[in-house]
Amino acid sequence: MTEPSNESAIRDQEKQVAARAAAQLVDEGDIVGLGSGSTAEYAVRFLAERVREGLKIIGIPTSQQTKHLAEQLGIPLTTLEEHPQIDIDIDGADEIDPQLNLIKGGGGAFLREKIVASVSRRFVVIAESSKQVKILGKFPLPVEVIPFAQSLIKQHIEGLGAKVSLRSYAYGNPYVTDEGHHILDCTFSKIPDPPALAEKLCGIPGVVEHGLFIGMAEMALIGKDGRVIQLRR
Ligand code: A5P
Repeated sequence: MTEPSNESAIRDQEKQVAARAAAQLVDEGDIVGLGSGSTAEYAVRFLAERVREGLKIIGIPTSQQTKHLAEQLGIPLTTLEEHPQIDIDIDGADEIDPQLNLIKGGGGAFLREKIVASVSRRFVVIAESSKQVKILGKFPLPVEVIPFAQSLIKQHIEGLGAKVSLRSYAYGNPYVTDEGHHILDCTFSKIPDPPALAEKLCGIPGVVEHGLFIGMAEMALIGKDGRVIQLRR
């Protein structure tokens, strides 16, 4: 059996090859959505290498964490006010199904991530091979909520068949998103009809956004065995 440390080294290598391939898709002059999470961080680092070599791009970060990283690495940044259209968005995912529907938001940044993806001409997902699934739902689906309504929303989503928990910091306080909301992590085990669930979640008052990204990704780049598998819808 493979040692856990080897497994994590393999996952890390898979993330890196996918991220490197995605960074190569960026063209001179592009406005680039900069995703969040550990795989997207590799892509930001590879893009920064290209910027140091002379590539001219402007990034739009999807989280405060990515913003700080991009600033440290010298990637020029802009805002959606200045650039409401993005050429290419590169981001990670927690689960990817064969239609390239996604669960995102393990890192808590999915609200901004979805906004950025929604105005991107190309949305490229990057991930290690373990993120590929036949049916979404094993990974807890994050739902961003207004704190005032969270107990009502929790009951409502439990009524849809999920086990729901409020995301918290290790010291016990509720996790707070970049936009000041809370997150309910909802384990459905299987989500056979993602669009139907998405519609139900959007209909609950106080739900700000959910982590189902349906029909948004143009392409997924999956790292496996030292190479990149390209999936398209
Ligand atoms: C951040 O909010 C998420 O959507 C991440 O993109 C997702 O959780 C994947 O993260 P990793 O690349 O760290 O696995």
